[in-house]
Amino acid sequence: MDHWPLRDLVLCTPRLELRPDDDEGLDELVEEAYLGVHPPDEMPFLVPWTEADPRYLGRGMLQYHWAERARLAPENWSVHFLVRLDGRVVGMQSLHGVDFGVTRHVGSGSWVGLRHQGRGIGTEMRAAVLLFAFDHLGATRARSSAFADNAASQGVSRKLGYRRDGTETVVRRGVATEDVRLVLDPDTFVRPSWTLAVDGVEGCLGLLGSA
Ligand SMILES: CC(C)(COP(=O)(O)OP(=O)(O)OC[C@H]1O[C@@H](n2cnc3c(N)ncnc32)[C@H](O)[C@@H]1OP(=O)(O)O)[C@@H](O)C(=O)NCCC(=O)NCCS
Repeated sequence: MDHWPLRDLVLCTPRLELRPDDDEGLDELVEEAYLGVHPPDEMPFLVPWTEADPRYLGRGMLQYHWAERARLAPENWSVHFLVRLDGRVVGMQSLHGVDFGVTRHVGSGSWVGLRHQGRGIGTEMRAAVLLFAFDHLGATRARSSAFADNAASQGVSRKLGYRRDGTETVVRRGVATEDVRLVLDPDTFVRPSWTLAVDGVEGCLGLLGSA
C-alpha cells in the first residue's frame, strides 16, 4: 500500500509540470519568493505572508507547507502544486476541498514569481487544476477569490469563465478593501485548447475524498 500517493501525482500542460509539494521543490519555491512575488506597494494576499521578516520568510513558508501536508485528510485537504517551467519551480498552484466527497466543490489559490508573471503561466496553471478537478476528481464547482484591484488574478478568472459571486469587505494593511468571490461550473468553464496529461491520480482518489 502506498501511504502517500500524492508523490506520484503529476499534471502536465504544454509548458508546465505541476506536482504536489516536496521538500526539494519547496526550497526552490522559497528562492523564488525571495526574488519577489508582487511589488512591495501592493498586497494581493488575504494572509499577508510576504510581509514576514525576511530572515524568517523561508522558514515560515516551509513550516506552512509541512503543516498543510500534516493535516491533510479526505474531509479537508489542500494540495499545493509546485509549478515547474523548464524544470524550475516558478510558482505555486493550490487546490483545496472541504467535505469534497459530499459537496464536490473545490477552491484554489496561487502565485507566480514576479519575474515570470504576465506570460500566461497563471492562466495555464489554474486551467490545469480546474481540468484535474472537473475531469478527474468529479468536481461540480470551483471557487476562488481576489481583491477587486488584483487585475492579474481577476484576468485569469475572467479568461477561464468564472462569474462574480458577491463581495466581502476585508481589512488590508489597515484599509477596508473589496474581496471578490468567484465561481465556476464545468459547463461555463472556458476550456483551454490543449489537453492536460495526468498521471498517478488513481491512488489519490480516496485521500481526496473522491473515491
Ligand atoms: C495572479 C497571478 C497568479 C496571475 O499569473 P500571471 O502569469 O501573471 O497571469 P497571466 O499572464 O496568465 O495573465 C492573465 C490575464 O490577466 C491579465 N493581466 C495580467 N497582469 C495584469 C495587470 N497587471 N493588469 C491588467 N491585466 C493583467 C493578462 O493580460 C491576462 O489576460 P490576457 O491574456 O487576456 O492579456 C500572478 O500575477 C501572481 O502571482 N500575482 C501575485 C500573487 C497573486 O496575486 N496571487 C493571487 C492572489 S488572489
